[in-house]
Amino acid sequence: MASVKTPIFDFLNEYNDSGRIRLHTPGHKGRIEGFGDMAGLDLTEIDGADSLFDASGIIGESEEIASSIFGSYRTFYSAGGSTLSIYAMLSVIVRRCGRKIIAARNSHRSFINAIALLDIEPIWIYPDYEEGSAIGGCITKSAVRNALRANPDAKAVYITSPDYLGAMSDIRGISAICDGEDIPLIVDNAHGSHLRFSKPDLHPISIGATMCCDSAHKTLPVLTGGGYIHVADNKFGKEYAEQIKENMALFASTSPSYLIMASLDLCNAYLYNEVSDDVERVTEQVIDIKNKLHRLGYIVLKGDQMRISLSAVERGYTGVELAHELRQRGIECEYADDNYAVLLFSPVSSDQDIAAVWEALIAIKARAPIPFADFSVDIYPERKMSARRALFAQREKVAVDNAVGRVCAEVKISCPPGVPIVVPGEIITDKCIKVLKRYGILELYVVK
Ligand SMILES: Cc1ncc(COP(=O)(O)O)c(C=O)c1O
Repeated sequence: MASVKTPIFDFLNEYNDSGRIRLHTPGHKGRIEGFGDMAGLDLTEIDGADSLFDASGIIGESEEIASSIFGSYRTFYSAGGSTLSIYAMLSVIVRRCGRKIIAARNSHRSFINAIALLDIEPIWIYPDYEEGSAIGGCITKSAVRNALRANPDAKAVYITSPDYLGAMSDIRGISAICDGEDIPLIVDNAHGSHLRFSKPDLHPISIGATMCCDSAHKTLPVLTGGGYIHVADNKFGKEYAEQIKENMALFASTSPSYLIMASLDLCNAYLYNEVSDDVERVTEQVIDIKNKLHRLGYIVLKGDQMRISLSAVERGYTGVELAHELRQRGIECEYADDNYAVLLFSPVSSDQDIAAVWEALIAIKARAPIPFADFSVDIYPERKMSARRALFAQREKVAVDNAVGRVCAEVKISCPPGVPIVVPGEIITDKCIKVLKRYGILELYVVK
């Protein structure tokens, strides 16, 4: 088996083993009761440890290894998840190109925060929402083409794929359209790090995106908060690569977690050696379960093969009730709402766990069918002011029932799924309120 270097992890271990007296941060000095060895490995930018935002030593070396694994021009580590990566990618676009960006409306709240922080003007394109969902669906090529035609001054296209329910847009087709217009395609691939190792390879960087973020921690064996920005080996990618670190530093802590970076580093060895077999092993079983569930009357969404997004309304359960049934059987879901539940696997899910999920699902007795809950969202709500102005305006909290006609002043949605129904600066409608209530949101800030 070929070996891959793990320079960050090795450095932390060597330092920990050296027994040196730590007259530097962190204040725990390598010992936190109950943390075991973990605290000993939690270091800071001491001599030899490199520096994330100016990486030329062990971190730079590890990032290069990740880049060769992902086939990118450059790969950069994030210890602040995709949230930080999204701020940084958009910041590069704003600084280099401008503020008008064509964006999928089912974007995560981190994108909405970024448009407010960076004063981006979003041109929304709406996905073909899955039935009974306000968060999931594919963006079509024609939606992108039409938006580009109507907005020839747009500076980039921004798509989330896979989304929370696993819907995967045609990134290859959309990137061809963007190439034709000489415009970069940015993909929020927070949920899709594993796609590099699927057959075929469906990672955005492999199929035409200019740059993307991956929350490695969501679908790979990486500590929470660990992520990547990948930049493609093309004209825009080469232009942007030099500026990624500077723009990450704009939003990130100056003390990124070495534990998170070490987990990304160690993950390289796993990705190099074992992940492809595991992805095949897990996805084969997940596809098999999806097919069987479909035959049992579950509504099973297509898309990402590492998750099962399913509705049991035909079998008499809301998504939340289904999640509850699974919890009773020792299984905790990623997400559930009135219609859907999302079961998220990863390449390190064991065969036993996958089999247990299937056993639990078939043990849930069918009841009389119930209708889909109404999650239909407002297409094209009126924008009264920019997201930035609204987010930083004088504001007041009101009951959602009293919010009709008011201008939204916050990014209000539970996370997960983190996909806002109404964006700061937009006028709140009856329809928005209905869906907000479905997410249990009863109050929100509006502009005074
Ligand atoms: C689609 C999407 N993008 C971005 C993010 C932010 O990712 P992170 O939690 O890694 O910062 C999330 C988090 O759930 C997400 O679902």
